[in-house]
Amino acid sequence: MKRDFVTISDLTKNEITEIFELTGKIKESQKKGIDHKILKDKTLAMVFEKPSLRTRVTFETGMTQLGGHAIYLAPADIQLGKRETVPDAARNLSRWVDLIMARVFDHKTVEDLAENATIPVINGLSDLEHPCQILADLYTIVEKKNTLENLIITYVGDGNNVCNSFVAASDILDYRFNIATPAGYEPNKDYVERAKNVNLMYDPHEAVADADIIYTDVWASMGQEQEADKRKQAFAPFQINSELLEHAKKDYLIMHCLPAHRGEEITDNVIDGPRSIVLDEAENRLHVQKGILVWLSQHG
Ligand code: CP
Ligand code: NVA
Repeated sequence: MKRDFVTISDLTKNEITEIFELTGKIKESQKKGIDHKILKDKTLAMVFEKPSLRTRVTFETGMTQLGGHAIYLAPADIQLGKRETVPDAARNLSRWVDLIMARVFDHKTVEDLAENATIPVINGLSDLEHPCQILADLYTIVEKKNTLENLIITYVGDGNNVCNSFVAASDILDYRFNIATPAGYEPNKDYVERAKNVNLMYDPHEAVADADIIYTDVWASMGQEQEADKRKQAFAPFQINSELLEHAKKDYLIMHCLPAHRGEEITDNVIDGPRSIVLDEAENRLHVQKGILVWLSQHG
């Protein structure tokens, strides 16, 4: 049976460990200039309904470094569900390429792609989840703190796709996940109800007090641009700034999936400060996704 990576919950704890081990080897090879063309002559189709810097460049570069090739399909190219149905696009792509990565508005689109493709499908962000981001983030945290066990990751801001994937992963990897959002902007209710290690809070000061990792993301995600002004008001007390961080313990690290809206969810001095690991996090998108591509190619 082919495997997909549509949600974090598609993987078990052991499988995440396998992907992290693979990633470590691939990253080391990359850094030492050792040939690791594990996906020679393989092709990845990258379907985008939304813009991207990191996801596009890291998947495309990753395929090149693994000896394969990636095809970028811009929003106007496929027009999933408009020019042809999602299942038809999935069946056609399955006859030509070896893997599909899709960034979509509606999570159901990436689920339908996975259901109808005979090759692995990877979620490159949907309205519900951003699993590649969270796997890369958790890998980065393990690099910095050696473990996830007993760590407290605090998310301050919008209960969005990034937050949902952190909620889902907290059950698999057993870290505590504190979330501070304004009322009405909580993460997905079903995810939270299922989770056993999640604390929903409404006070960012309380949420950061014992955090090892302090994480934030934009207040209006792609597709919510028309709500941006309303959200700026609701989220103003949830900015990551020097005042908020006075309430944090000493050795916290700052993370952000990027792109950042500087001066909104995070201030310049914090994102550019000594505790920020946002660029290590962005770099690890490349290494971890290479791990995911290889792992999926070997399982199915
Ligand atoms: N973090 C992330 O997915 O960035 P892009 O939207 O630029 O791909
Ligand atoms: N929550 C953001 C993440 C961007 C990488 C969005 O969906 O736009």
